[in-house]
Amino acid sequence: MKRKVGAVSIWGGRFTQGMDEAFERFNSSLSLDRRLILEDIEGSMAYAEALEKAGVLSPRELRRILEGLGEIRSRAQQDLNFLAEAKDEDVHSFVEAQLVETIGEAGLKLHTGRSRNDQVAVDTRLFLKKAIGQVQQGLKALMGELLNQARRHTDVVIPGYTHLRKAQPILLAHYLLAYFEMFSRDRERFEDCFRRTDCMPLGAGALAGNAFAVDREALRRKLDFARMTANSLDAVSDRDYLVDFVSAGSLTLVHLSRLAEDLIFFSTPECGWVELSDQVTTGSSLMPQKKNPDSLELLRGKSGRIIGNLTRLLVLLKGLPLTYNKDLQEDKEALFDTLDTLLDCLQVAQVVVGTLKIDAEAARRTLEGDFMAATDLADYLVRKGMPFREAHQLVGRIVLECEGRRIRLSELPLSRYRQFSPLFADDLVETLSVRHSLEARSVPGGTAPARVAEALSRAEQSLGLKNSSER
Ligand code: ARG
Repeated sequence: MKRKVGAVSIWGGRFTQGMDEAFERFNSSLSLDRRLILEDIEGSMAYAEALEKAGVLSPRELRRILEGLGEIRSRAQQDLNFLAEAKDEDVHSFVEAQLVETIGEAGLKLHTGRSRNDQVAVDTRLFLKKAIGQVQQGLKALMGELLNQARRHTDVVIPGYTHLRKAQPILLAHYLLAYFEMFSRDRERFEDCFRRTDCMPLGAGALAGNAFAVDREALRRKLDFARMTANSLDAVSDRDYLVDFVSAGSLTLVHLSRLAEDLIFFSTPECGWVELSDQVTTGSSLMPQKKNPDSLELLRGKSGRIIGNLTRLLVLLKGLPLTYNKDLQEDKEALFDTLDTLLDCLQVAQVVVGTLKIDAEAARRTLEGDFMAATDLADYLVRKGMPFREAHQLVGRIVLECEGRRIRLSELPLSRYRQFSPLFADDLVETLSVRHSLEARSVPGGTAPARVAEALSRAEQSLGLKNSSER
């Protein structure tokens, strides 16, 4: 069957045979790009106005086209399923066909000087600009929950890890703010992506530019783009903005995946100081005692999808000759799947973080033993004049002895410490306390309570939340 717009095929003139049915299905993107229908209509309305100003359409024809497009838009807004039965190749041919069906003759003029190549580019950019706004909202909501938890638990101390071995005590708030930093950078990356997406391609035509002198600057203003594309060849073949989006999304998912992994670990009975809400856990069909962190496992697992989408786009573009090639139609699924996955993940992560229960006492218990004050002990000797390397060696030997005797650093008698070094004195006890360990790390960006309090207030301000002094 040939693709028809009303009574006229959109490209059938030079063909004598219809399309193979399998190929027709293969070639169609309507089931995916129907999501661009509102943007397609928005772009078409602006383009119709440009055609009228260029003298291609009469004011009457313009009016009819705008009315027709408006009608199609209301139908789409009421029920996107009105596209369900359509057999058109893509959303652009669908809208054009609907227009001709709705208003007749005048609709046949809308595509003058335009190509689906610049049309799909403008539709996708319009769509992506909105999508980025949604992602930014999702990130912001999640970051807000991180800050709420930090604010609720400013006194809670947890073990900090390196190599998944207990390393030094840190404030829970400091830990949560680390993820706040990651998501802040993600927000910047999406902003950056927005800037590059915010560029108006209409008027590029199929590849060489528009031959009807449409006012591109007016189109840019009408469609609310910050800039217009500078080169028509680039305009119809550029999909960098999608790569930017999926790349920023991949990194966001990597951050979510790391957070998920941490929380899975922290909520094991072995750590036990984090409890996940029933709302985001599942049971086992066999073992009645189980409460599994499926939400977090899925957050960790979903990163694979987005990273896959990024690879898909990069491979799609690699080796494509200028300018437009139908390969580019394959970009849609990567875009939509990334957006949907990202929004779902951000929403679930927000609930997971918002409903975390923190057991401060259990956290405190995990700080006992494990020699987490060893660095403080070495620092203690350094402050009394011993070179750090020497102090490190010596404390290593103390740890070894305590390990052998199965005692904590605080349980080794001062007299024994003094045999290791006469620099050890009564003030040693204080050095071994968690509070001391935290407070010592008072550089900007460190885990000292005063620093973390400042960082938390700054974070709250940057997110537009109340700052601590107002609470
Ligand atoms: N559905 C197409 C896409 O998504 C629209 C552009 C088609 N252009 C063409 N010359 N066949 O890329």
